[in-house]
Amino acid sequence: MKSKLVLGIETSCDETGVALYDTIEGLKGHKLYSQIKLHAQYGGVVPELASRDHIKKLLRLIKELIDENDININSIDSIAYTKGPGLSGALLVGTTVANALGYSLKKPVISVHHLEAHLLSPLLSNPNIKFPFVALLVSGGHTQLVRVEGIGRYHLLGDTRDDAAGEAFDKTAKILGLPYPGGALLSELARDGDASKYPLPKPMIHSGDLDFSFSGLKTAVANLVHKIGSKKVTASKTLKADIAASFQNAVTDVLTEKCCRALFKEDIKSLVIAGGVGANAELRRKVNQQAKKTGFEVHYPPLEFCTDNGAMVALVGGLKTNEGVYGAKPFDIKPRWPLSA
Ligand SMILES: Nc1ncnc2c1ncn2[C@@H]1O[C@H](COP(=O)(O)OP(=O)(O)OP(=O)(O)O)[C@@H](O)[C@H]1O
Ligand SMILES: [Mg+2]
Repeated sequence: MKSKLVLGIETSCDETGVALYDTIEGLKGHKLYSQIKLHAQYGGVVPELASRDHIKKLLRLIKELIDENDININSIDSIAYTKGPGLSGALLVGTTVANALGYSLKKPVISVHHLEAHLLSPLLSNPNIKFPFVALLVSGGHTQLVRVEGIGRYHLLGDTRDDAAGEAFDKTAKILGLPYPGGALLSELARDGDASKYPLPKPMIHSGDLDFSFSGLKTAVANLVHKIGSKKVTASKTLKADIAASFQNAVTDVLTEKCCRALFKEDIKSLVIAGGVGANAELRRKVNQQAKKTGFEVHYPPLEFCTDNGAMVALVGGLKTNEGVYGAKPFDIKPRWPLSA
C-alpha cells in the first residue's frame, strides 16, 4: 500500500494542535500551543477567547510544521480535523481551516471524533495493539469505559454520573488554592503527602456497575478543608500534600477497580488508558500493579499525547484514510457527540 500523508488539526477546547502523520511511517511531527495562561486568570476556559486564539495560532502552527518537516504543502494527501465534541466556536476554526485547505489543495477532508482520537492515541507509539480492548477515557470532560471492537466500533460500558475525574482533580486543586488547571499540580503535591491521613469516600467503588461519580468526593474535600480552616490549609504545604494524596488515592482506587471489573466482565485482557488523567503517575502505578497481578496488558499514549494534541487527530485521519472514509462537509461540527451513538 502506498503511504499517505495526513495533516491533523485539533481545536476542540484550549489547545491548538497540528501534526503530520504518514500512514506507513507513523508520526512525522507535531506542534502544540496551549492556551492555559490565557484562561488561568478566569479559573476556567472562556469559549470566546479560546476560538479567537485558535484563529491567531492555527495557520502559523501549520506553516511552522510544514517548514520544520521540509515538505511541500501539496504533498499532503488529506486533512483531518476534530468535528466534536467540544466548544462550538473553537471547533468552527478547525473545520474552516481544514475545509479551506482541502478546497484549495483539492484534497479530501476527514472529520474526527475527539474521544475516538484520545482512545486510539496509544497506537501512536505502538501500532500493534490488538482489538478488542477496553479503554478508560479519563480526561477533563469525560470518564468513560469503552469496549473497542475496532476502528469506529465502540460500545459504552460505563460513564460518570456527574463530574469527570479530571474535573474533580481541577476543582479539588482549586479548593486547595492551586492555579487552574490544577490536576497535574495536585498530583505533584500528592507525591509528598500521606494518602492514608484523611480517609475520603471512594464513590461507587462497590456499585457493581461500571459507572462513576466524583462530585461527592470533591464536596468531601471541600467539607474537610472547611473543618480544618481554609486559610490554615492553603498556608501549609504538609496539610495540602496530605489532602491531595488522600484525594488522589480515592480517585485512583476507583478508576483501577472499575478498569479491572470491566476487563473481567468483558473477558478481555487488554486495557488502554487515555486522556489527561491518564498521565497520573499514581493511577499508572496502581493499574500496572493489577496488570502484573491478574495478567492483562496495559497501554498508554506517550505522556505528551495524554492531553489534547494534533497527533492523535492525524493518527485517526490516517486510519480512516486507509479505510477510504472521507467526505467531511464544510462547517461540519458536532459540539455534543456521544462516542457510541
Ligand atoms: N498528572 C495528572 N494527574 C491528574 N490529572 C491530570 C494530570 N495531568 C493532566 N490532568 C488533567 O487532565 C485534564 C485535561 O485532559 P484532556 O486535555 O485530555 O481533557 P480535555 O480535552 O479538557 O477533556 P475532553 O477530552 O474530555 O474534552 C485536566 O482536567 C487536567 O487537570
Ligand atoms: Mg481532550
